[in-house]
Amino acid sequence: MSSSRPTWVAGNWKMHGSLAGNAALVDAIQKGLKAGITGEIVLCAPFPYLDQVSRLLSGSMMTLGAQDVSQDAAGAFTGDVSAAMLADFGCRYVLVGHSERRRLHGETDEKVAEKFGAALSAGLRPVLCLGETLAERKAGQTEKIVIRQLEAVLTLYGAAAFQNAVLAYEPVWAIGTGRVATPEEAEAVHRLLRERVAMKDSSIAAELRIVYGGSVKADNASFLFAQPNIDGGLIGGASLEAKDFLAICHAANF
Ligand code: 13P
Repeated sequence: MSSSRPTWVAGNWKMHGSLAGNAALVDAIQKGLKAGITGEIVLCAPFPYLDQVSRLLSGSMMTLGAQDVSQDAAGAFTGDVSAAMLADFGCRYVLVGHSERRRLHGETDEKVAEKFGAALSAGLRPVLCLGETLAERKAGQTEKIVIRQLEAVLTLYGAAAFQNAVLAYEPVWAIGTGRVATPEEAEAVHRLLRERVAMKDSSIAAELRIVYGGSVKADNASFLFAQPNIDGGLIGGASLEAKDFLAICHAANF
C-alpha cells in the first residue's frame, strides 16, 4: 500500500442478507472499528436493502455502495435500477463489471463502460471490476484481458474519469474458490494497470486506488495489502462475518 493513497476496503454482500441479519452485521462491524481511521470502508448491499443499510450507516465512517447499475438514465427497462436512484438512497459507490455480471448476465466491455459513465454522471464513484478466467491465465492472456477491459473505459472516458473511480482486480479463478492470487501475482497486474493509466495521465494514475478481490481472508489480507500497488480489497464471502471482515479491515490499517 502506498502511503499517499487512502486505503479502500469494500464488502460485496452479493445476493446475501436479510433485514435482521444486516442490522446485526452492520452493528457488529461498527462496534469493532477503531475511531479516527483514514481511508474508506464501503458496504455494497443488495438493492432492496440499500435504504436500510443507508440508515444503519448514518453517522458511521462507513459508506454505502451498490452492486450494479443500469447504463440508462430512465425509461422502459423493467427490473433495472438507475444511477440516480442509487444516489437517492445514499450510495457513494457502485460496482460495475463484476465477473458474475459479465458471466451470468452477458455484460460486455462496452456495456460495462456505459455503466461506468452512467455512474459518474449521477455523481457516483464506479468501481470497475476486471480480471481474467483460469483458462485465460493458463493461456498467458492475463495482461491482454485486463488491459482490454480497462481500455474499454479509458478510451471512452479518458484518464480523468478515474479521478473519481476505483479499479478492482478480481481474477475470476480466485473468486469464491479459496484460491487466492499470490501477492506477487496480484501486484504484477496492479502495476500493469497503473502503468496503463499513467500512459494517459501520471498524476491520476498515482492517486488511483487499485484494490484486489478474490478469496481475501484475514490470514492473507496483510500480505496482499503490503504490496506497493495494492490499495485495499473487495471482499465477498469474508464480508458476511463481522469478525472476518474486521480482521481484514485491521490488516488494511483500519
Ligand atoms: P470472495 O471474497 O468470496 O472470493 O469474492 C470476491 C468478490 O467477488 C468480491 O466482489
